[in-house]
Amino acid sequence: MDNLDQLVSDARAAFAEAADGTALEQAKARFLGKNGLITGQLKALAALAPERKRERGAEVNTAKAAIEAALAARRESLREAELAVQLKADALDVTLPGRGTVSGGLHPVSRTLERIERLFQSIGFVAVDGPEIETDWHNFTALNMPENHPARSMHDTFFLEGQQNALLRTHTSPVQIRAMLAHVERYRGSDSLPDLRIIAPGRVYRVDSDATHSPMFHQVEGLWVGEGVSFADLKGVVADFLRRFFETEDLQVRFRPSFFPFTEPSAEIDVAFVGGGLDGRWLEVAGCGMVHPNVLRFGGIDSERYTGFAFGFGPDRLTMLRYGVDDLRLFFEGDLRFLSQFR
Ligand code: DAH
Repeated sequence: MDNLDQLVSDARAAFAEAADGTALEQAKARFLGKNGLITGQLKALAALAPERKRERGAEVNTAKAAIEAALAARRESLREAELAVQLKADALDVTLPGRGTVSGGLHPVSRTLERIERLFQSIGFVAVDGPEIETDWHNFTALNMPENHPARSMHDTFFLEGQQNALLRTHTSPVQIRAMLAHVERYRGSDSLPDLRIIAPGRVYRVDSDATHSPMFHQVEGLWVGEGVSFADLKGVVADFLRRFFETEDLQVRFRPSFFPFTEPSAEIDVAFVGGGLDGRWLEVAGCGMVHPNVLRFGGIDSERYTGFAFGFGPDRLTMLRYGVDDLRLFFEGDLRFLSQFR
C-alpha cells in the first residue's frame, strides 16, 4: 500500500480512537500540525523534480483533504455525543406521574362547631371562650353544685396533680359564670343590663372511654339572660337552630323533663327525623333549662329582675348524626382515611 494511503487510514484510526475533543486535537497535530506527518510530506516535495513534484503534490493534497474530512466528521460526531450525554443528564421525564398536592380540610367536629357558631351568631349570639383548666368554683360551686352535692358525682373529673382547686373542666357550663361576671362588670353603674347572649364551644374532659364516650369531647354552651326571657324563648331558639342545623323541617324536637343543678326547670332535648332517618328513634342531643336563680346570683345578676335560659349541646353527637358516623372514637384517632372524607 502506498504510504499516503497508509497515512490516511492511520489518521482515520487515530481520530476514531480519540474519545474527546482534547484527544482529537492531539491526533490532529500528529498529522496536520506544523511538524505533522502530512506537513512533512509537503516539505519533502521541494526535493523532487518538477514533473514528479506536481504529481506527488496532487497526491499529498488529496490525502490531506481526506484527513481533514475525517477530522471534521469526527469532530461532529464527538460534539453530537457530548450533546446527547448532556441532554440525557438534563432530561425531565414528563411521563412520571405527578406527586400531587393534598389539600387539607377542617376536622368534621370543627365544621360542626363553626356551623353552630354561625347559626347562633345569625340570631345575635356572641361566641366566647373559657379556660380548659378550670377552678372547682367555676366548674361546680357557682353552678349550684356545692361541695357535697350529689350531682358532682355525675362527673368523673380529672383533677390536676398537687392542685386542690384546678381541674379539667367537665363541661362548658362554667363559661356561663365567666360570661355573666364579665357582662355585669362591663355594665357596672348602668341602671339595666342589656341582654347577654353567648355561645361557648370547646373541649371538655371526663374519665370515660368507649364507642360513644371519649375522655376528651366537645360541648357547646348557650346562654341568654335578660328581662322576661322565658322557656318559650328557649324552645323557639333551640328548635329553630336544630332545623337549620340538620337542614330539614321534618325534624321533631322534644323537651323531656330532667334535672340539672344549674337549671330549674330542666329538660333534655331529643330529636327524631320524621319519615326516615334513624328509624324515627328519639336521640338526646342537649340538656337545657331556665338558669337557676342561685347561678344568676353567682354570676352577679339580680335574679328577681332577670331570667335566662341555658343549654349544652354535644356537637360530637350532632356531627355523628349529620354525617352518619357510628363510632365517636373515629373523630379523635387522626386516621386520614376517615378524615379525608370530610374535605
Ligand atoms: N353541663 C351539662 C352537662 O355537661 C349540660 C347542660 C345541661 C348544660 C343543661 C346546660 C344546661 O347549660 O342548661 O351534662
